[in-house]
Amino acid sequence: MAIDKKYVDQILKVSEKAALASSYLVGKKDKIAADQAAVNSMRYELNKINMNGEVVIGEGSLDEAPMLYTGEKLGNKNGPYFDIAVDPLEGTNFAANNLPGAISVIAIAEKGNLFNAPETYMDKIATGPIEKGLVDLDFTLKKNVSNLADFLNKDVSSLIACVMDRPRHKKIIDELKDLNVKIKLITDGDVLGALYVSNPKYNVDIFLGTGGGPEGVLAATALDAFDCHFQGRFIFDNDKVINEAKEMGIIDLDKKYELNEIIKGDSIFCATGITSSEVFNGIEIIGDNYKSETLVTHKSSDFKNIIKRTNLIK
Ligand code: FBP
Repeated sequence: MAIDKKYVDQILKVSEKAALASSYLVGKKDKIAADQAAVNSMRYELNKINMNGEVVIGEGSLDEAPMLYTGEKLGNKNGPYFDIAVDPLEGTNFAANNLPGAISVIAIAEKGNLFNAPETYMDKIATGPIEKGLVDLDFTLKKNVSNLADFLNKDVSSLIACVMDRPRHKKIIDELKDLNVKIKLITDGDVLGALYVSNPKYNVDIFLGTGGGPEGVLAATALDAFDCHFQGRFIFDNDKVINEAKEMGIIDLDKKYELNEIIKGDSIFCATGITSSEVFNGIEIIGDNYKSETLVTHKSSDFKNIIKRTNLIK
């Protein structure tokens, strides 16, 4: 079943308001306060919506987070059942230091259709729409890059790969260099990093590396609406996350998840810029109003657009 279009506007508002709340703390060197402002706003706004929502990806377990914890029920309990994934402030360093790329992110799907990601890392690979079987987490980097270059009819030396700048990615970065692939190194924010593959204008052909699992699920939700390719494999490397995975019913800890196993059916995704980035501008406050820019996708209506609006600050 499709999610009614009226929810697109309501989820968009949730995302915009969380970004606005966080924007007051941009550059204040306090990532916790900037995150908390977005969390408070998101929770408050979500509770106004006619729905039976449940957080499947949030701020952590109840003992770690009193708000937007995994399992929290949201909405006024009068309406359809939704799974909700949130990252009220993605890129806490960006917000604290007034750098490009801080965003508020939210996604909803019908109940049972959004993967309940454990709070652990995920190996990810993403490209634009490609033929099935060309790019795979289990292939060598060389094979992925050469298959993708062939498919895109490009020379490997003109391919651009986006990777997070982390010591754990040294091998990938060295290999990309040896293969003569252009690298776009990002310091944080791998939701946006993965989203770059959704449109050629962002000049990223492939996104790869290890980042947050919840961020992977959120990015996958948007990429699904763009018919992009995404695979993820969680990394369960300590007892805490292994137990968490078992409690969630994950039996095969090495499983590689395809996009349609992470997000099924219809979905709505919204990401609003808090600070500006290559994708959209951040929040701008003008008197009693604020300007916001949000990437919105609604899978069933094939809607995928950046919505620019000016709203009253209330
Ligand atoms: P926060 O917004 O929670 O600070 O996360 C930013 C981020 O860069 C994510 O985009 C990414 O998935 C994760 O951190 C990577 O984690 P780490 O910094 O441990 O490599």
